[in-house]
Amino acid sequence: MKHQAGLLWSMTVIILVISIETHAQQDGAALFETYCAICHEASGGDQALGPELSVLRQMTPEHILDVMDNGVMQSQARERTRTQRYILAEYLSGKSFGSVPPEPIPQAAYCDSGDMAQSQQAVLGAAWNGWGNNLQNTRLQDSVSAGITPENVGTLKLKWAFGYPRATSGGTQPVVVNGRLYVGNAVGDVFALDADTGCVHWRIEVEGGVRSAISIGSIGDNGKLIAFFGDQAANTYAVDVDTGEVIWKTRVDDHPRAVITGAPVLYDGRLFVPVSSREESQVRNPGYPCCQFRGSLLSIDTENGEVLWKTYTISEEAKPIGKSDTGTQLWGPSGDPIWNAPTVDLKRNLLYVGTGNNYSIPATNTSDAIIAFDIDTGEIRWVKQVAADDVWNSSCRAMGENPYLCPDVDAPDTDFGNSPLLVDVNGRDILYAGNKLGLVYAFDPDDEGNILWTESIGKGATSGGIMWGLASDGEKVYAGNNYFNTSEPESTGGVSAIDLVSGNTVWSVPALSCDGRDKCKPSHASALTAIPGVVFALTMDGRIRALSTADGSTLWEYDTARDFETVNSVKANGGSMSNAGVTIVDGVVYVNSGYSHHGAIIPGNVLLAFEIQR
Ligand code: HEC
Repeated sequence: MKHQAGLLWSMTVIILVISIETHAQQDGAALFETYCAICHEASGGDQALGPELSVLRQMTPEHILDVMDNGVMQSQARERTRTQRYILAEYLSGKSFGSVPPEPIPQAAYCDSGDMAQSQQAVLGAAWNGWGNNLQNTRLQDSVSAGITPENVGTLKLKWAFGYPRATSGGTQPVVVNGRLYVGNAVGDVFALDADTGCVHWRIEVEGGVRSAISIGSIGDNGKLIAFFGDQAANTYAVDVDTGEVIWKTRVDDHPRAVITGAPVLYDGRLFVPVSSREESQVRNPGYPCCQFRGSLLSIDTENGEVLWKTYTISEEAKPIGKSDTGTQLWGPSGDPIWNAPTVDLKRNLLYVGTGNNYSIPATNTSDAIIAFDIDTGEIRWVKQVAADDVWNSSCRAMGENPYLCPDVDAPDTDFGNSPLLVDVNGRDILYAGNKLGLVYAFDPDDEGNILWTESIGKGATSGGIMWGLASDGEKVYAGNNYFNTSEPESTGGVSAIDLVSGNTVWSVPALSCDGRDKCKPSHASALTAIPGVVFALTMDGRIRALSTADGSTLWEYDTARDFETVNSVKANGGSMSNAGVTIVDGVVYVNSGYSHHGAIIPGNVLLAFEIQR
């Protein structure tokens, strides 16, 4: 009897557990459909705005909950109850809370204390510093510093792999100075590693994710080296390179959705900080008073973090512009964010940036433009707009629900996501930038940005065309295409080389094949990197291509979309590659793999170092 009762009891428990589970799963699916799918599912040939379900499935419930509670989805999840957020987190990850063990960095992954002792006072020897590796943002490493040539690039072999704990996206452009590698990531960890072995000198946690690149420079009378960077909570930091101690922290914008995505650029005791925002993707809620954010550029004193000047891309503050059908107050003008690291022109004493679109009406003449600012005063010297009337926000994805919030569903959305390149072409300076329509532009810095030529590298789209950046070796400009459509493999991806003077395409190579690949997306979102003779491009499915700058032929190729054994014992895999490109210093190629943001298909958390065989 007793036995039978026990059996009955456990069967009831099993049935109860099953019914709770399926109930929760159903709820999760319904919650997702109602509140999240609009931006997290592809529709009508368009890529999803945020990561798709298959990508979210690879995250932990803890991470997804944190994204809703403290991260980028706060406003989307604000009206969901705590229980709903838990259910969503378990449903989307496909895992229960506590099932994935936390992965701290074990003590053994830290460098021996002796290595950390010497204080650093100057940048010595070969380095890659900041986003573009030089003030002109050409993303070129000279052959001596690179230590890699077209002849030996084919001998590159994996040297070490490092895993970012808890992360689903790899990090910023790795920066290598004095034998140390500095890198941040989207969960807000910043690391100083030994570039040779990958051991950890220090790790700090900052408020927001770090997306672009760290710049190393000195402050104070003794020239102490400091790491400068910005985060997704719109803070700029100065951190001691020896200890990771925060020397100062300055918030650069009061808008709650303001972010720093483009890398702050260091020059002559000042840090030039580009400001963008996520307000554009918050506009799904019909009660959202769209929109008030304006892009801006700041000059900050590196000694103390004080703001020397701040110039908005839109001179006037947003004003009330009427009400939506549901009575929500709307605002404008807004938008024109800066997503890219500014480019410094010492000859003309100017800074150049590219801007994105307006979020609300009225349209301004500073959207989708190259803007030149005076270095010392921040005054705008000239604006070259390439596409007018580009007013778009994410409510355009939910047409019919609240059309007033979307001024123009067909707006071109042709942001300049990447930094302009200033190149000396036979003694004449020319500025190059690419946009999401897949167009490369040459601008004349001596003639207020007058367009010298335009060349198409292929099809563009909201998430297509040229995303994070061009590279140039002073002979050609190289561009990768992020256009992707499974029904148009011939238009997908590809890398092009364009003559700097004529604007003619010298060569172009198609996307890598999808044959035999389970997860395939061979388009190019990441910034390119060049060394004399070789250009490096990364794919959204984790492949590294090293191409000959002479004819685009493949010199080396490597697939990072797999698991790696890491020097810090954190479980890690490679995957989609976007945003930062490769970093090359002293015969070693450093690259992040794994990405869970826009258009990514394989999240991951690995930093890889490849070395040539001498
Ligand atoms: C208005 C569009 C929109 C809606 C609605 C939306 N999201 Fe998102 N979501 C995005 C975008 C865009 C991103 C990518 C943000 C980025 O890369 O910074 C994102 C990213 C995410 C991420 C990954 C963030 C990371 O850093 O790893 C998670 C998790 C997520 N969303 C969950 C949700 C959930 C849960 C809901 C529903 C309650 C939701 N989202 C509703 C647009 C949306």
